[in-house]
Amino acid sequence: METLLKNGHIVSSKEIIIGDLLIKEGKIDKIGDNINAPGAEEIDCTNKYILPGIIDAHVHFRSPGYEEEEDWETGSSAALAGGVTTVFDMPNTNPKTVTLKALDQKKALAKKKSHVNFRFFMGATGDNIEEINKAGDDVIGVKVYMGQTTGQTVKDDGMEKLLKNLFEQTNKVIAVHAEDEEMIEKRMEIYRDENSPEIHSLIRNDAVAFTATKKAVHLAKKYRGRLHICHLSTKKEVELLRKYKDITCEVAPHHLFFTVAEYAKQGNFVKVNPPIRSQNDVDALWEGLLDGTINIIATDHAPHLRKDKETGYWQAPAGMPGVEFVLPLMLDSVNKGRITLKDIIRLMCEGPARIYGLHKKGFLKEGFDADIVIIDMDIKREIRNEDVVSKCGWTPYAGRILQGWPVMTFVRGNLLVENGKIVSGQTGAEVPIGT
Ligand code: DOR
Ligand code: ZN
Repeated sequence: METLLKNGHIVSSKEIIIGDLLIKEGKIDKIGDNINAPGAEEIDCTNKYILPGIIDAHVHFRSPGYEEEEDWETGSSAALAGGVTTVFDMPNTNPKTVTLKALDQKKALAKKKSHVNFRFFMGATGDNIEEINKAGDDVIGVKVYMGQTTGQTVKDDGMEKLLKNLFEQTNKVIAVHAEDEEMIEKRMEIYRDENSPEIHSLIRNDAVAFTATKKAVHLAKKYRGRLHICHLSTKKEVELLRKYKDITCEVAPHHLFFTVAEYAKQGNFVKVNPPIRSQNDVDALWEGLLDGTINIIATDHAPHLRKDKETGYWQAPAGMPGVEFVLPLMLDSVNKGRITLKDIIRLMCEGPARIYGLHKKGFLKEGFDADIVIIDMDIKREIRNEDVVSKCGWTPYAGRILQGWPVMTFVRGNLLVENGKIVSGQTGAEVPIGT
């Protein structure tokens, strides 16, 4: 079965060309002018843009263990609806993904139910390096939580040793949640008698994130490790990482689109670790995106149930969903002139493929997997909670009217989503590493 995408704007981080793209047996067979392919199903892409499928290098799809919030069927459907064709899932599930057995269990679940391509992080416990190395290419990277967060508690005492060992003894990307545990605990004491969501950004202030990031950077340099900082949120971190081109980092959409002013409107629904910040920080993150300091946009999609978010500050879990609307949010930003489509490809397709060494993904090139999203930059639509595909059933972006939406998503050549509706049940596959 062949599909011919006719006369679209084909986008890479370097250029946008107008042309045709032929999909054959799940791969991009040919890109060029006036491709002739008798028998192929033709899709007119005039005035539309053809992008590599989005790679979200940081999601929490919650399975196994917390399927009341999300599972591989609902999480991957939400991804597809938003033009995301590959996800990397985090280890804070139940059981935690810290053993080969847990990894295999998660893999089996995803294989059965996921509509998108997937890969897994393995969590570092301090004594599972052997398991991590045994897993080989089955793990995309190692996740280290320097500060406590949903489903994770850490002891700071062993952190330096843990990072040293990982940097020295594995060749994996070490992806770090950088918040300083000791500081968090001290600062929680200061605010213990208060109960408003605003204190979240005061407890976990910018120094909490910066201190941990600085520590991780120092250790990566000292032990020559491959460090990736997750969800950068502060100006100070952007300024620090601007100096270290061999350390990579990502930003989450909630740190780009919310400031602390949002607590007044959404309360604990925007409680997240690390927390939302000041306008000054948000501006610095956008600057870091544009000047190449930040390498990836990844959502940290963390679906929590409304009933859990509707409790008091101290009980409410941290995290918010994001995989479904990150692309429209960024496309709307292109329409507003804040960023270019080429930047989007660099940050959401090529960047993650490069950093994690994905095999034939992230680029529209002949021979590459036909993971493709077609977008219409003119469509204007309001985000509504009623339309949310993620099992959690809400989004912090509800009410925003965005211009620029995905209209078709292909995974390995198969059209799976058309205008937000799933049209095929194909399930995904792991993403091979290497060239
Ligand atoms: O706010 C967060 N929620 N930060 C994390 O690091 C984990 C996530 C979750 O899994 O809910
Ligand atoms: Zn996360």
